Amino acid sequence: MCGIIGYIGEKEANDILISGLEKLEYRGYDSAGVAIAHESQIKINKVKGRVENLKSITIIGNIGIAHTRWATHGKPCQENAHPFVDETNNFAIVHNGIIENYLELKEELSREGVSFSSNTDSEIIVHLIAKNYHDNLKEAVLKTIKKLAGAYAFCVIKKDASEIIGARNGSPLVVGIADSENFLASDVSALIEHTKKVVYLNDFQIAELKKDSCKVYNFDGVEENYEIKEINWTLEKAQKQGYKHFMLKEIFEQPDIIRETMKVPIAIEKNFSRIIMVACGTASYAGLIGKYLIEKLAKIPVTYEIASEFRYKEPLISKEDLVVAISQSGETADTLAAIRLAKEKGAKTLGIINVIDSTIAREVDKVIYTRAGPEIGVASTKAFLSQLMIIYKLAFNLSDQEELLEYIDDIILKIKSILSRSEEIKELAHNYYLSHNFLYIGRNLSFPLALEGALKLKEISYIHAEAYPAGELKHGPIALVSEEMPTLAICPKDAVYPKTFSNIEEIKAREGKVISIATEGDEDIKKISDEVFYVPEVKEIFYPLICCIPLQLFAYHIADFKECDIDKPRNLAKSVTVE
Ligand code: F6R
Repeated sequence: MCGIIGYIGEKEANDILISGLEKLEYRGYDSAGVAIAHESQIKINKVKGRVENLKSITIIGNIGIAHTRWATHGKPCQENAHPFVDETNNFAIVHNGIIENYLELKEELSREGVSFSSNTDSEIIVHLIAKNYHDNLKEAVLKTIKKLAGAYAFCVIKKDASEIIGARNGSPLVVGIADSENFLASDVSALIEHTKKVVYLNDFQIAELKKDSCKVYNFDGVEENYEIKEINWTLEKAQKQGYKHFMLKEIFEQPDIIRETMKVPIAIEKNFSRIIMVACGTASYAGLIGKYLIEKLAKIPVTYEIASEFRYKEPLISKEDLVVAISQSGETADTLAAIRLAKEKGAKTLGIINVIDSTIAREVDKVIYTRAGPEIGVASTKAFLSQLMIIYKLAFNLSDQEELLEYIDDIILKIKSILSRSEEIKELAHNYYLSHNFLYIGRNLSFPLALEGALKLKEISYIHAEAYPAGELKHGPIALVSEEMPTLAICPKDAVYPKTFSNIEEIKAREGKVISIATEGDEDIKKISDEVFYVPEVKEIFYPLICCIPLQLFAYHIADFKECDIDKPRNLAKSVTVE
């Protein structure tokens, strides 16, 4: 992951770079650093932890690069913070990605007498550039990338040069074009306050930026044409607007997001015999709900695949398949690789993507945007619901049951009514925030929701939570049940209600505490649960759209009671561009 940014122009680079890094912090926040070239010197400011910590020092100069890190190789500390310089302090680089053959290259360089200051894979890039430099930075970069295996986007400056070079292979990099200044960054959010004109670099391209020009080359050094795109969104939406956390704001935005996503046209050519859903994390749970729903309504076989597993298991993909990638960021490395594999095998590809013009959005045959707007909280909430909404529309379209969309207005009202009861969930959370472990259970459409609820709790509150199909408990996990292991049971009045009900009884019989999410009016469930949160009654297939709200709020309030860093949970990053 990691976020990188470069600036060349007439203004002081320091503040531009730091403010750009703040926008990129969702990509990682283990350490941060800035390098600025000025009067034939490179000056560096690097810190452990947040970008904020860079602000006590200002470096002078108009050309610079900066980095916010999500640690892959080498622990989070100042020595492993980017930018890295070579031994003569002539060059500085920032890198996002993983150099897979770094050990081999490091040994080679060490044998030649190079000494290293960090434990990272990234540092070898700057030493190779120094070694390959004669009198042209671009040529040194071209020579260096021939040696690198793995995924990367990196930027490099030389102490007395008047250019920045950026290279892309597998990790995102975008150029921002403005008057007498140009930028490079991992994504548009870091540039948008300076320019709306951007060039998305493709893999195997390098950009050579000077103050007044931008040239793009392929990895053989041949100049290539590029298209300048105009960005038509602003950063306004990316503010907290009075909410304590972005996550809470984003949970409360969901009724509007559903309404917005409802407007998205879905016209799918039905020229496939099977759908393969590929995604990671929360997005994959949206895909799993899609499997249940599309098979149930449209009777089309759907396989559900975790992208990181899919790509390496020699999957059977044919021209008859429609491979659907679901991704908020549109940059997730494994999902992107799955789509590339699918295209190689001749399958049709569809992306359900939130970030406009992201790499997956650009590479799929057809993209449907989820219109959730910028999601800043690292834990996905509104993007998940918008993915679900698109999946519902897809299922209705494929089954010619578009009349089912008529229920959505009512669903929106019901979601609003649940949100207005956030305090009720807060009280519930207060009773359980000291627990160390949780079980989440559900059947049928509620099972993927159990997975999502448990993931939300784990990632923002650091409480261990495991999700199971409710019927699976007796095959092992029920051994975990005790007074200390509460279970959150998703048990709306649907076709499998009596079955889940029995599973809750089994837990109660073993003295487990149960919090049930149930349908209003269900008095029976009270008798077997310690606590019940009621959701309004809806048509059976729509329960995931409303049951996900209390799960999100429950995780949020627990994490808030625990005073966790909710928008930036430890060890995580929003955009996962490494394998
Ligand atoms: C969890 C979460 C992650 C993402 C996953 C995929 O709250 O946000 O599990 O869903 O990393 O990311 P995208 O959707 O950007 O491909």
